[in-house]
Amino acid sequence: MADQSQKRPVSNIVFIIAMQTEALPVVNRFQLTEDTNSLFPQGVPWVRYCGSYKDLNINVIWPGKDPTLGVDSIGTVSSSLVTYAAIQALKPDLIINAGTAGGFKAKGASIGDVFIISDCAFHDRRIPIPVYDLFGVGSRKAFETPNLVKELNLKVGKLSTGDSLDMTQQDEASIIANDATVKDMEGAAIAYVADMLKVPAIFVKAVTDIVDGDKPTAEEFLQNLAAVTAALDEAVEKVIYFISGKCLSEL
Ligand code: ADE
Repeated sequence: MADQSQKRPVSNIVFIIAMQTEALPVVNRFQLTEDTNSLFPQGVPWVRYCGSYKDLNINVIWPGKDPTLGVDSIGTVSSSLVTYAAIQALKPDLIINAGTAGGFKAKGASIGDVFIISDCAFHDRRIPIPVYDLFGVGSRKAFETPNLVKELNLKVGKLSTGDSLDMTQQDEASIIANDATVKDMEGAAIAYVADMLKVPAIFVKAVTDIVDGDKPTAEEFLQNLAAVTAALDEAVEKVIYFISGKCLSEL
């Protein structure tokens, strides 16, 4: 599949975006509309917005609000489920996971930076048994987009994923072992599903908080969320503009 699809222009894109605050600017920018006739099983909170931009079909999948608690269904469980369901239903040429992330200043990240991810891995799946240890880390390469990175002048770095916003000392050791510049709560899970179903995936991550800085993460994240999602949205628009009319092999 990869060979054939590399030779024709990308036409069908699925964004996976975990938070409503991150998703809505993209939805509004591309004037996407909410799909009322859901492709997904009845009762799930997952939301699809769709529309077109130039020659591209664009879908934004947001895992929606937790039905009991009313907050965004962030993290690896919901993101892998929606990635699986969206690939089954929409057969995209490309998955784009766009979202916010914590950044490490020691690795060159600053607030508002937008990274294209080269590699994803988990930092909170510790299984100290030979080979299971590697399974736990679950390292995967993102689809390579050297021309996109060059043209848009974006930073490139490795991503480490875990289901917590904070970082324990053990997480930190794993993140360092993963050589990560940014830390999120979805990327490696989406990479796992995309790899399994052989769909190329790229990751666009905007830095809301400095993990190795002196501010409490949750506070810094909430403080910067709105401004940084604007930077994320601008980068997403440039990424889509760049992809339009190109084949996967030209990205
Ligand atoms: N998303 C934004 N900031 C984050 C952090 N510090 N850790 C995990 N996910 C994040």
